[in-house]
Amino acid sequence: MDEKYTRMAPAEVLRRIAERKKQLGGEVCILGHHYQRDEVFQFADFTGDSLKLSQQAAGTGARYIVFCGVQFMAESADILTPADCAVILPDLSAGCEMADMAEADDVAGALNRISDAAAGAIVVPITYVNSAAAVKAVTGRAGGACCTSSNARSVFEWALRPEDKGGAGGAKILAAPDQHLARNTALAMGYELDDCVMYDPAAENGGLTDEQIRDATFILWKGYCYVHQVFTVKQIERVRRDRPGIKVIVHPECPHEVVAAADLAGSTEQILRAVADSPAGAGWAVGTEVHMVARLAGDNPDKYVRLLSDTPAVCESMSRIDPPHLLWVLDNLAEGRVVNRISVSATIAADARKALERMISIKAER
Ligand code: 13P
Ligand code: SF4
Repeated sequence: MDEKYTRMAPAEVLRRIAERKKQLGGEVCILGHHYQRDEVFQFADFTGDSLKLSQQAAGTGARYIVFCGVQFMAESADILTPADCAVILPDLSAGCEMADMAEADDVAGALNRISDAAAGAIVVPITYVNSAAAVKAVTGRAGGACCTSSNARSVFEWALRPEDKGGAGGAKILAAPDQHLARNTALAMGYELDDCVMYDPAAENGGLTDEQIRDATFILWKGYCYVHQVFTVKQIERVRRDRPGIKVIVHPECPHEVVAAADLAGSTEQILRAVADSPAGAGWAVGTEVHMVARLAGDNPDKYVRLLSDTPAVCESMSRIDPPHLLWVLDNLAEGRVVNRISVSATIAADARKALERMISIKAER
């Protein structure tokens, strides 16, 4: 990006973004994830959680999608949109640390190892959308599906119905890369902690014996989101002590003790709806990314909304999408140039699409 964008006065950057957006009209669709900073979020044509945004992307009909989110979201959008639609990520360094914890070759290797040890059970890979396109492709090739934080339970239930997949020996799930979403989903379905084992890609054989694999229903990849690791049960106890009657709602990327102690857990969109639909005067402590929680507080002035922790939970990757980068990509589009295009190779996209479309076809919990 040209240095002139970082030197420009912030108010001037915002003024120019608004002007460019008007000029480009329906050619460009800006998508904004809930974790985006306000200065960027205000320009989004559509906002939402990962599932909602991937569906919006598939249906916009725009020539250009500027995705104000992170790499895996833009990749999913590219996979789900027609080839003549260009998906742009304003800053290519906006990755996701959790997605980086699962490499495609390691997931394929784990799938082989677990299938060999599974004593005839089908092993269905379920890949959180917070993953690289190549990992989704491994999943699609192996008959698995993607899931998001808003539909994980429906997808897990589908995976454990082996009759759908022609198997008689039962089914197991290999869930990557987020151990917490997977564990929380298994527990919500009525399974026990003992039904889950953790696969460590850095350890020989994933650190698991054949017997451990045979006895488990859920094999969880050893991945996590650092943003959601900051929330604790102690914080929940404290906010309840400070404000009796307050409700605690957290994202399912939080550890299972935190989800168990909270009143509710859900995707970013589900959190937004729970707070928005609550009566005036309600109190909420929210365990997810700070930019979203601050916006929730501002959008619900008749309620008390606070971050669950005192220390801010910031997704550094999401924060990389700033107004100067947004203006830079729009200026280029206005001059007929596409910069920072996210382009998933056709072979990876074809297999990854199977996993994403399987997810979309499984009834979402909404
Ligand atoms: P949502 O699908 O709930 O928006 O979550 C995406 C994410 O990255 C949470 O950390
Ligand atoms: Fe990835 Fe965590 Fe950021 Fe979500 S909050 S994009 S999981 S690093």
